[in-house]
Amino acid sequence: MRQWWQDAVFYQIYPRSFADSNGDGIGDLRGIIGRLDYLATLGVEALWISPFFTSPQRDFGYDVADYRDVDPDYGSLEDARELIVEAHSRGIRVLLDLVVNHCSAEHPWFKAARASKEAPEHDWFIWKPLAGPLPNNWKCELELGPAWCPNPATGERYLATFTQFQPEFNWRNPELRTKIYDTMRFWYELGVDGYRLDVSTAYIKDEEFRSNPFSPNLVPDMFQRHIYDRNRPEVFEIFREMRAIGGDEKVLIGETHGRDPAMAAASYCEGEGLHLAFNFDLFDAPWDARAMRTTLERWYELLGPESWPVVTLSNHDRPRHAWRFRGRTKEETEGRARVAAALLLTLRGSPFLYYGEEIAMSCRRIPRAMLRDTLGIKTWPIGFIGRDPERTPMQWTSAAGAGFTTGRPWLPINPDYEERNVEAGLGDSSSTLARYRELIALRRATPELREGGLRFLDAGPGVLAYERFLEGGETLLVALNFASRSGALDISGDWEILIGEDGRERKLAACRLKLASLETLIAKRCRD
Ligand code: NOJ
Ligand code: CA
Repeated sequence: MRQWWQDAVFYQIYPRSFADSNGDGIGDLRGIIGRLDYLATLGVEALWISPFFTSPQRDFGYDVADYRDVDPDYGSLEDARELIVEAHSRGIRVLLDLVVNHCSAEHPWFKAARASKEAPEHDWFIWKPLAGPLPNNWKCELELGPAWCPNPATGERYLATFTQFQPEFNWRNPELRTKIYDTMRFWYELGVDGYRLDVSTAYIKDEEFRSNPFSPNLVPDMFQRHIYDRNRPEVFEIFREMRAIGGDEKVLIGETHGRDPAMAAASYCEGEGLHLAFNFDLFDAPWDARAMRTTLERWYELLGPESWPVVTLSNHDRPRHAWRFRGRTKEETEGRARVAAALLLTLRGSPFLYYGEEIAMSCRRIPRAMLRDTLGIKTWPIGFIGRDPERTPMQWTSAAGAGFTTGRPWLPINPDYEERNVEAGLGDSSSTLARYRELIALRRATPELREGGLRFLDAGPGVLAYERFLEGGETLLVALNFASRSGALDISGDWEILIGEDGRERKLAACRLKLASLETLIAKRCRD
């Protein structure tokens, strides 16, 4: 049976940076509530909200100290309830970010576990003796040190592969599993519609704790092939158990991170595991029509007809795609962002947008004194490995504070906010924002785009083209010129243009179609 999450356009909110309702410079839940009407008009149907749970903010919420409460930075549990109700009343579902590979070192479970080997919680974490050499070469990814952190109180080391403040759970312990599953039920009862599962392919570690082999890749591998600290097949059992809790109405989307789309595809467990999984290859694909086609073909082939794809180009850990795909001029950069939007919103699979991409928000280099992300501070002065650049505040207006805050923003606002902001985009029918709205509306109104098949077409250099179709329904043509020079595509039959650039005739007949630089063309085949 077709499910809502196969049809929905998703939108990721990084709450710290979306909208600040009380002037402390930090985005919050009431801020999001205040922007729900905007999101409804944009046409998105589901939100994934990065963590807002109680946290010392060592990794900005990805270090949770209480899974059942809201951090005062973001508001209260009452605000979370209201946000869910208000979103639902606008036809928008809400996904939370479940961070259960690890918790915060401030979580009472870890505090009890590290105090004594006799504590019931001790075995909920992963321990090795303090004496002697490190157990293996595993790394603490955000601090670039060893993953084994000393705990003199018990004469042991605990495992932490992100920061030392994020001790990892021992998912082989059945009591721990029950605790996490109860947490999932808690939020389901409050009305949430599913979870994005943080680093889900890392829950289970190698039973023998073997060292990872070398990888030549820096980001995101950090020079190790993560085959022992992550990506273990035993994790699939957990995905099956998690799915059984919420059934198919509650969606589970895995952060199947790393550079292994085969692992991401396997995480669906033939309809019994995750409902959706991210393909991280899409974050590395260059701005090149042929390379993009190869990446997508590989993804579709790995998934097969049964596993539903996800397509996304940006998130809070990777440089924004407007920046990754930037051209030599402002126009070229903007043009590419518009082509990327058409790609995301016409492919087969649920699109995930990252806040601000609808106005082609970009990244900026952040001065050292203003860096907040541990990884960014550790890797300074190398730019764009740290994650602050993609987390700058949402640009709502041209007013001071960009309409994000009346106070001092927690991260500097990109100085281009005076021209690049939602208010300006709404007032300009040729803006990137207008294009996103047009594309989302077309997707919502067109079953062929939401659920139809996809067939790539051979096209001239620089052009990515495909058809979307439903048996007994219509056929749509999508032609995207990635190049900044003209491109070509042979078309047969008659077509009516649904979305195209100004100045183009609304009808097309069989021809060698010439596409202008960075042109988007979406057309429907005319019936006789
Ligand atoms: C993945 C999250 O997306 C990232 O922001 C975080 O630092 C790590 N998981 C650790 O939780
Ligand atoms: Ca605030």
